[in-house]
Amino acid sequence: TGLIAFDPGLGNTGSCESAITFIDGEKGILRYRGISLDALQNHPNFVEVALLLMFGKLPGKAQYQRFSTSLTNNANLDEDMKHHFAGFPRSAPPMAVLSAMISTLSCFHPEFLELEDATQVERAAARLISKVRTLAAYAYRRSLGLPYNYPDPTLPYVSNFLHMMFSEPYRQYSIDEDVVAALNMVLILHADHEQNCSTSTVRMVGSSGANLFASCAAGVSALWGPLHGGANMAVIEMLEAIHKGNMTAQEYVALAKDRDSPVRLMGFGHRVYRNFDPRATILREVSEKLLQRMGRKDPLLSIARKLEEIALQDSYFIDRKLYPNVDFYSGIILRAIGIPTNMFTVIFAIGRLPGWIAHWYEQKRQSDGKIWRPRQVYAGNRQSAYTARTERG
Ligand code: CMC
Repeated sequence: TGLIAFDPGLGNTGSCESAITFIDGEKGILRYRGISLDALQNHPNFVEVALLLMFGKLPGKAQYQRFSTSLTNNANLDEDMKHHFAGFPRSAPPMAVLSAMISTLSCFHPEFLELEDATQVERAAARLISKVRTLAAYAYRRSLGLPYNYPDPTLPYVSNFLHMMFSEPYRQYSIDEDVVAALNMVLILHADHEQNCSTSTVRMVGSSGANLFASCAAGVSALWGPLHGGANMAVIEMLEAIHKGNMTAQEYVALAKDRDSPVRLMGFGHRVYRNFDPRATILREVSEKLLQRMGRKDPLLSIARKLEEIALQDSYFIDRKLYPNVDFYSGIILRAIGIPTNMFTVIFAIGRLPGWIAHWYEQKRQSDGKIWRPRQVYAGNRQSAYTARTERG
């Protein structure tokens, strides 16, 4: 093993060169293609950010228009694809449905399996980014036994998603621009985060030459885990448990610090940030502002603030440099919008999709693009004797 650098969890391995997202974890800085989150906050437009990440610069009018039209034209699902949904039980986890259905897109759109140039990538990206929200909305509606909502071609990206989620045959969902702006911001803040687990998975799968849909379906599976995208659901479950009086915020923090307990303070800590996750700071502001505009109070927001206050004064969290991450406040916003907890990680996936596509495309264009094939440090027996089954106990 002499020549192999051992780096469990790959925390100290640069797996690729990338020009998409810059993070300074010590200072708590995150920029997309060099543009700060603060600048994006003033104009929350997820589609624009998706194009920025995927193609390297903010889109001009023509590209923006072309891409938006393509999103509108591709929003519906092939009627045959809808039959697949009938095969899932109502209780199916929406992330399982999403991963399966993104894989299924490879079967329905074989024309996108070989992408030769930027024009083809743009078309495939529009199809995927558009359809993922229809798939997500239908997965939600199927879980409740509700009918499919056809996309409305007059609505922009985020509003159309809300319509597909919440309109009923007898009542059109009423679009609230504050909600639309908040959801745009949630999606933007999830859009890319360099070599996180799901993005590395997309690059890993893509490195073998696998197609865009297959690579992104793998990304959804990686995102599902509670230490990654699944944490946003776990945060709300934690806050609800405290709210129901099962334990106090102080007791929960004590449990999260106990090294004999598997409990962690969900939505806290990050492999890269050793300072405030700038996304958490923005999402806290967005959640407070949205609730205020809606004239609502959410007791879970007060509990989250309390937990943050306790943790940030506690030497356990201070010494380990554990701060709130992107998942700590996002659920408060999604709850206010009416999105159920089991859909939170799906929303993360919709947001992260442009980042996955950007990385898949960047890797495809890299001339030294090699198949990813990490090494290991073998820790088993070098040689063992074979015993015939009849002679084994
Ligand atoms: N609560 C309590 N202790 C923690 C926490 C936490 N949330 N996070 C880390 N620690 C402790 C951990 O026990 C370890 O302590 P010790 O050094 O005494 O063994 C130390 O801090 C370092 O933790 P680690 O697990 O080695 O750090 P990591 O970089 O491997 O893990 C993490 C990063 C995000 C998985 C972890 O902080 C965690 O599990 N957080 C809670 C889950 C969460 O919020 N995940 C979302 C991450 S951000 C968005 C995303 O990626 O989807």
